[in-house]
Amino acid sequence: MAAPLEYNRKNMPFRRLGPSGLRVPVFSLGGWLTFGGTVVGDPVKDIVKIALENGINMFDEAETYSRGKSEEELGRVLKELGVRRADIILTTKIFWGTRGGPNNSGLSRKHIIEGLRESLARLQTDYVDIVFAHRPDHTVPVEETVRAFSWVIDQGWAYYWGTSEWSAREIEEAYQIAHKFGLHAPVAEQCEHHLFHRERPEGEYRTLYKKYGLGTTVWSALASGLLTGKYNDGIPEGSRFDTNGKFFSERVKKLQTEEGRRQIEIVKTLTAFAEKELSCSVTHLALAWVAKNPNTSTVILGATKPEQVLDNLKALEIIPKLTPQILEKIDEIVGNKPDALPSFGRPGLDIHGRL
Ligand SMILES: NC(=O)c1ccc[n+]([C@@H]2O[C@H](COP(=O)([O-])OP(=O)(O)OC[C@H]3O[C@@H](n4cnc5c(N)ncnc54)[C@H](OP(=O)(O)O)[C@@H]3O)[C@@H](O)[C@H]2O)c1
Repeated sequence: MAAPLEYNRKNMPFRRLGPSGLRVPVFSLGGWLTFGGTVVGDPVKDIVKIALENGINMFDEAETYSRGKSEEELGRVLKELGVRRADIILTTKIFWGTRGGPNNSGLSRKHIIEGLRESLARLQTDYVDIVFAHRPDHTVPVEETVRAFSWVIDQGWAYYWGTSEWSAREIEEAYQIAHKFGLHAPVAEQCEHHLFHRERPEGEYRTLYKKYGLGTTVWSALASGLLTGKYNDGIPEGSRFDTNGKFFSERVKKLQTEEGRRQIEIVKTLTAFAEKELSCSVTHLALAWVAKNPNTSTVILGATKPEQVLDNLKALEIIPKLTPQILEKIDEIVGNKPDALPSFGRPGLDIHGRL
């Protein structure tokens, strides 16, 4: 067996995950569609190794990713690399399960406990650092769900819990229940956030960041690759929209609509802007833009090749270059900045709450 891999932070910045004490890297890595899907065996190890060698020590999974195979691949690779468990942050998500049956999915106490137990076995670990509720379950009382996540934390099977794609109202309800009964409250929301998807993370959740210090672990910051410019002239062979054609058929159809063509035009404009103003690619601009947001805790990258991880990490150099002026110009190009909260004529306060 090769010598154990020593994690090297390099120049990776770390941020607190919401109100918790956990420090997460600005860029982490996930296994959706890739690990156990389009990427299996040694290539998974190559991707994870290059990530670890370049400061990424946080890996995101879900029980449903490739029906459990994604967790299995990641668990195997981390063991083979000899990574020290305390050096890394592992996250997984419970909701869809890996097989049918009335109780093998959702957010009942039964599935949260049994689903997480199975995830831990696939990941070959005693605990995950964060377990997420992959979606809200409207058929289960929220109190049951909050109690079950709190219980798995008390067992030491997870250190924190979070939500994913819950509405602000649903997250708020979970907080209220946790506070009322002295249970563990969610610390982060795993949300979609990119230059074409802003309303929920920047608008709807705004009050949650202020009230609860909610953290975010952001997904699809490149809009599945659209924001790299790779789909500007069709679907390249071997790209996500090609290899997962059935899953993305609606997205591919959308590229031909007026809205889709408008998005491609925006990608082209952003590409020219990134080259001229920041001497970088549109990929770097798009990733740095999400990372720059003060409410982003970590941006979860996705990669089918080690080179993509290395390329995407160049975005670290662009984050400080995104001045308020540059951000304003990007807002003008994309034209979808969510409206500010109405003040009903009263003057606004600064971030310290002062007039
Ligand atoms: N909570 C949720 O509901 C949810 C949903 C989705 C994702 N996630 C999490 O977020 C992670 C990231 O999401 P995502 O994979 O959709 O992220 P993404 O960054 O939007 O897309 C990643 C994909 O884009 C392509 N790509 C990446 N870097 C590239 C580069 N430099 N040049 C060209 N192509 C590049 C690769 O696909 P190809 O090479 O195949 O084209 C890669 O797999 C997932 O792995 C998962 O952990 C969570």
